[in-house]
Parts: sequence; structure tokens; C-alpha cells
Amino acid sequence: MLVTGNDILIPARAGKYGVGSFNTNNMEITQAIIHTAERLRSPVMVQMSEGAIKYGGQDLANIVKDLAHRATVPVALHLDHGSSYESALNAIRMGFTSVMIDASHHDFAGNVKETRRVVEAAHAMGISVESELGRLGGIEEHIVVDEKDAFLTDPEEAVQFIEQTGTDFLAIAIGTSHGAFKGKGRPYIDHARIEKIAGMTGIPLVAHGSSGVPQDIIERFRAAGGEIGDAAGIADEDLQRATQFGIAKVNVDTDLRLASTVGIREVLQATPKEFDPRKIFGRARDVMSQVIEHKMGVLGSVGKA
Ligand code: G3H
Ligand code: 13P
Ligand code: NA
Ligand code: ZN
Repeated sequence: MLVTGNDILIPARAGKYGVGSFNTNNMEITQAIIHTAERLRSPVMVQMSEGAIKYGGQDLANIVKDLAHRATVPVALHLDHGSSYESALNAIRMGFTSVMIDASHHDFAGNVKETRRVVEAAHAMGISVESELGRLGGIEEHIVVDEKDAFLTDPEEAVQFIEQTGTDFLAIAIGTSHGAFKGKGRPYIDHARIEKIAGMTGIPLVAHGSSGVPQDIIERFRAAGGEIGDAAGIADEDLQRATQFGIAKVNVDTDLRLASTVGIREVLQATPKEFDPRKIFGRARDVMSQVIEHKMGVLGSVGKA
């Protein structure tokens, strides 16, 4: 069933588990996400970036909505990193049930102002809103606390931001970063900060940049002819702990990009004569499904729907 972000994330925050919010860009990715959620009785969020909207548009949004309507588990269609009021309203017009306004690059007052406008419009239409406070980016273990404070989310500011905007859920900067290169070895996650922010606020918290960049997938990527540098993601134990202490929405894009490319590369490498797209993209879908299943297990959302 197609539901709002709140419908999925409020129970997750209360039940101390996380829900994956996976980026989609085509039919196979969407099927891997929603069919795996259905099979595992897990709630799930499917998100499209502005780039995904440019690429797949209403066609792709309709595929997501159709699969969501036919699923018996809760599915939300969410705008990832909406860059403006216009972008958020456009997504709502396209049938999204949840939107992110990312005005985190503005100063505090500017972020509040932009976010508030979107909250007012979206709430009038029953749509939930995610916003972001702080600057995402990896933090090195040796960085002193003062320097961390310059870009990680400040707990007192988070309380004021939520009060002043009415945002439904809040993305916080706690050490994660986008992409396949999140730091050398195991990226540092500021668990004390998550727990402090969660203790001072009541709404679901969001972790962007939460791909695990599994080492077996990286090895298969290389074995099938792919080239990639020092790839590293968020450790399963770090995500597990974060979801038990307030993180309810967990954003994953990179892991599906890697998994689908591994599937395609392996088919093409093993069977050079193959040119049936169903064999090629079907294999990509299978590898993505395995990665999604693992993630839902880590987050604790399996069996929650
Ligand atoms: O946070 C960004 C997501 O990974 C989406 O990336 O804008 O290339 O679709 P994209
Ligand atoms: P990853 O790059 O870790 O998959 O993060 C995706 C994300 O945060 C999308 O908003
Ligand atoms: Na988002
Ligand atoms: Zn993000």
C-alpha cells in the first residue's frame, strides 16, 4: 500500500528499528526494493532524486506507485534532496507521498525559512516532510571536538529547528557521507551525538550516506573487470546501533549502484555471447535484492509489516 513517510517512520522510531529508503532510477531497481520488502514483510521507502525525476520522470514515479499500490506492506514514494520549494511541490503533483527539502547549505535562519514554506504546503496536502540540519561529510577519528562541531548537527539547534519548522523527520550529520568512499577503514560515527539528539527530540531521525559498501561486492566488482579505489561504507554494527537509538530512516543508493553493476558485469564477462536484456538486467535485479535483504536484516525492519 502507498502511504506517507510518517506512516512508516513514526512506528519505526517508536519501535527502535530502521527503515531503508532506497534510491530508484528504473523498473528493475524498483522491483528489487518493493518485491524484497514484500517477501520479508518489511516497510520500505522508495526515493527518487531530482536526477531520477529528470531520467525517469512521471513514467518511473508511476511504476513505483503501481508496485506500492499492489504491495501489502507499507511503501512511501519520497523525494530525495529536493533543492527548492518548486521542486518539492512538483514531486507532490507527481504523486509523491513524502518530500525532502534540503536547505542545509543555507544558514540556520535561511534553512528554517525554506523548510517552513515546504512544510506548510506539504502538510496542507497530507504529505510528510524531511529536512536536513548540519553538513554531511566523513569525519576523521583524530579531528578535535571543536572541528567536528563545525559541521555535525548541533543538538540544541536541532531542537529549535524542529520547533520552528514543524518538519516531520530530520536528517542529521553524524559522520556519514554520500558515495562509495566514506573514509579509510571503518568510518567514524558519532553515536553519542545521535543519542543526545534523539533524547532531546521526538521525531524520526534520518541518516543519509548509509550504504555499507560490502567488501564482497567490491571484490566481485573488481573480479568482473571493474575499477574502484579504496571503497568503504558504514559498518553494519554502526547502523544497527544508530537505529536502536533514534535513526529511523536510512538512505541507501550506492549499494544498489554497485550491486547492479556487479550483476551486469558478471553476466557479460561469463557469457560474452549473451544479449538478452532480461538475462543481464535480471541478474542485476537479483544481486540488488540480496543486498536489500541483508540491509533490512541489519536495520531490524524484517517482519515489521
Ligand atoms: O544523495 C544522493 C543520491 O545518491 C542520489 O544521487 O542525484 O545522482 O540521483 P543522484
Ligand atoms: P549512499 O551514497 O551511502 O548510498 O547514500 C545515499 C543517500 O544518502 C541518498 O540521499
Ligand atoms: Na531523502
Ligand atoms: Zn542523501
